[in-house]
Amino acid sequence: MPTESPHRTPAQIGFGSILAAAMLFSTPALAQQPAPPASTTLWSPRIHFSSPPNWINDPNGPIFLNGQYHLFFQTNPSGDEWGNMSWGHAVSPDLAHWKQLPVALAEENGVAIFSGSTVEDRDNTSGLCGDPGQKPPGCLIAIYTGASQDKQAQNLASSRDGGVTWTKYASNPILDLELKDFRDPKVFWHAPSQSWVMVVALPTQHKLRIYRSKNLRQWELASEFGPAGSTQGVWECPDLFELAVRDAKGNWVSSRWLLSVNINPGGPAKGSASQYFVGQFNGYRFTEDHPGSGPHWADWGKDFYASTSFANIPSEKDRVWIAWMSNWQYAAKLPSLPGRGEMTVARRLYFHQSPAHPALSPSQEPLLLVQQPILPIPDVKPYAAMFGAPPFQTIFQANAAIAAQKQSGSVYRLSFILNPGDAEEAGVRLRRGVIDPSAPAAEETVVGVNFETGRIFVDRTRSGKTDWSPDFPVRVSAPLRHPQANSVSIEIVVDSNSVEVFAEDGETVLTDLIYPSATSQGISFYATATPPGAAPALVRNVELDPLDQPPATK
Ligand code: FRU
Repeated sequence: MPTESPHRTPAQIGFGSILAAAMLFSTPALAQQPAPPASTTLWSPRIHFSSPPNWINDPNGPIFLNGQYHLFFQTNPSGDEWGNMSWGHAVSPDLAHWKQLPVALAEENGVAIFSGSTVEDRDNTSGLCGDPGQKPPGCLIAIYTGASQDKQAQNLASSRDGGVTWTKYASNPILDLELKDFRDPKVFWHAPSQSWVMVVALPTQHKLRIYRSKNLRQWELASEFGPAGSTQGVWECPDLFELAVRDAKGNWVSSRWLLSVNINPGGPAKGSASQYFVGQFNGYRFTEDHPGSGPHWADWGKDFYASTSFANIPSEKDRVWIAWMSNWQYAAKLPSLPGRGEMTVARRLYFHQSPAHPALSPSQEPLLLVQQPILPIPDVKPYAAMFGAPPFQTIFQANAAIAAQKQSGSVYRLSFILNPGDAEEAGVRLRRGVIDPSAPAAEETVVGVNFETGRIFVDRTRSGKTDWSPDFPVRVSAPLRHPQANSVSIEIVVDSNSVEVFAEDGETVLTDLIYPSATSQGISFYATATPPGAAPALVRNVELDPLDQPPATK
C-alpha cells in the first residue's frame, strides 16, 4: 500500500503498540468526566467543534434528536494524541455552537471504540430499548467498531436517555469476520424494504460490504461494492444516503444515492480525502450510474476527512454532513495545543442537475454534489454589504471600500462574485498581517482563481505558522466545474485557524487549516495586471458576515 508520509492512519500503524501505550493511560474514571470549558487560545475555533485539551478525529454517529444535534466523535479522553479511542459527545442547537457532554463510550478491556454511527430505534427492533412490545421514545443504538490488537468487529451499545449514558451490548460483537481491518459501520433504516442497512469498510481490500438486519443484532450480507474510483489508500468511514437532485431553480426534480468512501492516502491534495459515487440503491445493492467516471472528490482541500451524515434529518430536508478538518499526513503534529483536531462546518447537501455541461463527456457523472455551509447567521443579517448589488466594482474600488469601512476580521463569512475580465488570476487575500488592503503583507492566505488553468486555489504557504510539517505549506487547487462561465461565485468561511471555500454555489469546495497570528486580520481583493484597454477584473455582491456571535436564543 503506497503511503505518502510517515504519518499513517492508526489502522496502518502497528496498532498493538499504540493500543498498549494507550491502555497504560486508560483511566475509565477520568474518561467519564466532562471536558473542561473550551479554551480561548489563539487558534481555538469559534464556530467549529473542537475538544481542548484532548485529541479528536472522526465525527461519529451524528444524529438529530429532540430538537438538538448530537455529535459523537473519536477522542482520546486523556490526551492530545491518538490513542485510548473512545466516543466523545457534544450537542448543539445550531450546528455551530456546541456543548460538550461526558464521554459516551469509553475504551474498555483492550477494545477501543472506533468509528461508527447511531440510529433511533423507534420500534425497539433491537429489543435493547426496553421490554418486548415497549417503544420508549428517543432510544439510541450505536453501531461501532470494537478494535482490539488483532481484530476489528462491529459492536452495539444502547442509550435510553438521549445519548448521555450508554450500555454496551452483552453479546458483542454482532458482526465479526475475524479480520484485522473491518471497520466504520454506517447504519440507516431503509423504509422501502423495511430493513436496517449497514455499509462497512474492508479498508485494505478497497471494498465496502452492505449488510441487512431486522433487529440490528443479526446481519446478512447483501452485496459488496468496489474496488472502484480511487484505490490508492485504505477505504474508511463509508456513508450511503439518498439525495435530492435539484434543478437550477432549486426545485427537487428527482433523487439519487450517494455512496461516500474516505481514502487515506491518495487524495487530490495528497493524504486523506473524501470520494463519492453516484447511483441507485435498492436496499441490497448500490449500482453506480456511470461506472468508471470518477474519482469524484467531495473536497479538494487538504483538511476534509471521515465525512459522515446526520441521521434523523427530516426527509423533506436536505442531508447534512460534517467531517474531521485534518489530514492523517500531519494530524499528530498540529500546533493547536491545547488539544488537537476539530470538525468542519456542517454542510447541507444535494445534487445539482446542470442543464448543459460542456465540460463533461457523456461517460462522466453529470450530477454535481453541492455543499452549502450551515452557519450561525441570524435571520436578520447584520452583514456589512460593502456595496450593493450591481454594478460590478473594480478591485481598486473594492479595496477602497474595505479601507473606508475598516473591514477586517478573523471569524467571518465572505461571499462575492468574481468576474475575471481579461485578468489571468484574481481573488482575495485573507488573514493578512496588515489591515491596509493596498499594502503588501508578509503573512496572508490566498483564495484565487487562475482563469488560464480554470482552477480555484487556496495558497497557505505564507499563512502563518507553517514550519511544523513539510506537508503543510502548500497551494492546493480544484478544477472549476464551469470554467467557461463569465463569473464565479465564491463563499469563504473563515475561523481562527481555517478557511473553507465554497465556489460555484457549493459545487467546488476546498477546506484548509491555517495557523495565522492573532493580529493578521486584513482582507484585500487582488487581480493580476491587465494591459491598457483590456477588461479589468471585477467583484460584485460582496458580503461580509461576522460569525463570532453568541448562539441565537430560542
Ligand atoms: C479514520 C479512522 C477510522 C477508524 C478511526 C480510529 O480516520 O482510521 O477508520 O475507525 O479513524 O480512530
